[in-house]
Amino acid sequence: MHDFQFVDGELFCEGVSIAAVAAKVGTPFYLYSHATLCRHLQVFDSAFSDIPHLTAFAVKSNSNLAILKLVANHGLGADIVSGGELYRALQAGIEPTKIVFAGVGKNAEEIEYALKTGIRMFNVESAAELGAINDVAARMGTKAPVALRVNPDVDPMTHPYIATGLKKSKFGIGSQFALESFEAAMQCSAIDVVGVHMHIGSQLTTVSPFVDAVKKLLGLIEQLQQRGIDLHCINVGGGLGISYEDETPPHPSDLAEALMPLLRDLKVHLILEPGRVIVGNAGILVTKVLYIKNGDGKNFVIVDAAMNDLLRPSLYDAYHKIVPVRQDKRDSMVVDVVGPICESGDFLAKDRKLPEVKPEELLAVMSAGAYAFTMASNYNARPRVPEVMVRDRDIHVIRERESYVDLVKGEVIPNFLQ
Ligand code: LLP
Repeated sequence: MHDFQFVDGELFCEGVSIAAVAAKVGTPFYLYSHATLCRHLQVFDSAFSDIPHLTAFAVKSNSNLAILKLVANHGLGADIVSGGELYRALQAGIEPTKIVFAGVGKNAEEIEYALKTGIRMFNVESAAELGAINDVAARMGTKAPVALRVNPDVDPMTHPYIATGLKKSKFGIGSQFALESFEAAMQCSAIDVVGVHMHIGSQLTTVSPFVDAVKKLLGLIEQLQQRGIDLHCINVGGGLGISYEDETPPHPSDLAEALMPLLRDLKVHLILEPGRVIVGNAGILVTKVLYIKNGDGKNFVIVDAAMNDLLRPSLYDAYHKIVPVRQDKRDSMVVDVVGPICESGDFLAKDRKLPEVKPEELLAVMSAGAYAFTMASNYNARPRVPEVMVRDRDIHVIRERESYVDLVKGEVIPNFLQ
C-alpha cells in the first residue's frame, strides 16, 4: 500500500498532484510520501511487538536526514555501514544506543568514532576485524559490544548481487568457523560479546530462507550455551522484499508470525534491519520526456533522468514500473526509456510497453524510495536531483537540487597549473 494514486486521471502523492511538485522544483526529482513512510515504520515495528526488539532502519536504503528524523521520531534505530552513515543518523537524532554498525571493512577511525558515540553494537564480519576493534577499544580504555555476523549459507533466492548469506559471499563469518570465532572473541579483553547477527540478502519474497537461517543460528546459540557463552541478542538483518512488478512478498506480520515461535522462549532481544520494505514503495522518481527517437527496429523515449539518478535498472536489470502522470486513453508502444548519459547501459527500462508519450510529458518511475537516491552519482557532471517530501497537502523540499558550483566543491587546481 502506498499513497501514490490516480485521481481523475492524474497521479497524486497524498493531496498533491505530481505536476504541482514538478512546477515547483523542476525535473527530475525524488518524491516521498510522509503518510506511507509513517505507516510502513509503524506496521513493521508493531509486527514484532510481542517480543523485546529493536527495529534498526537500514540507512543505506535512504539516508536523507528528514527520513532519518522520521525514523528517530518513531523511536526506532539505525543499521549503519560507515562513519558517514553514523554521522547522518546522529544528526537526525537517532539514539546511539539504537545504532548497530555492520560492514566488512570498518576502519580504525570509524571504529573509534562509533565507540566514542556509544553505539549499541558492532556487527563483526571477520576475525581480523574483531582484532582491530579490540585494539581500538583497548587503546581507548573501553569495551566494544559486538555481535558476530555469521553466514548461515542459505540461498535467499534473489538477485546474485544482493544475496549476502551464501558460502561464497564476502559477508559474515562462515558457519564452520562460528564456534571458534565466538570463543576467540570471548578471549579479547576489550570485547564484550553480546549477540549474533545475520543478513542473508535483499528483496526476499518468501519467508522460508529467513526461517532456515534463523534455525541455523539457534543451533549455534545452543552450542554456545553449552560452552558457557550466553548471548542476549539475535539480529536477523533486513531483506524483506517489496512489489516492484508482480511480486507478492510476505507482509511484515507474516515474517513475524514465522519467526516468533522460534524466538519467543529464547529470552533474547531481537534486532531487525529493514530498509527497502520501509522506503521502497514510499518514493518515486519523476522525470520529463525530452525527445522521442524512432530508430531502426527500436524506439527510444529519452528522458531527463539517467542511470546516475537511478542506477538499479543498469546495475541489476531491476524492473521499475513507469507510468505517465496523466492517464488517458491512447495507443501503446514498445520502447527503451533512456537517459542523457553517454553509456549504452544508461536506461530506466528496456523493451517496455508504455502508452504513447509525448515530449514535455511527466513520467513517474515507481518504487524508487530505496537504493535510489543513495546510489546516485554525479557521472557526466550531472547535479544530483532534489528530494521532496509531501505531507498531506504540503510540499517540503528535503534536499535541494545540486548546482554547478556544488559539482566542483573541494576541487583545487594546483598553482603549477595556473
Ligand atoms: N542489514 C544489512 C547488514 C544489509 O547489508 C542490508 C542491505 C540491510 C540490512 C537492509 O536490507 P533490505 O531490508 O533493504 O533488503 N542496492 C541493492 C540492495 C543492496 C542491499 C545491501 N544490504 C538494490 O538496489 O537492490
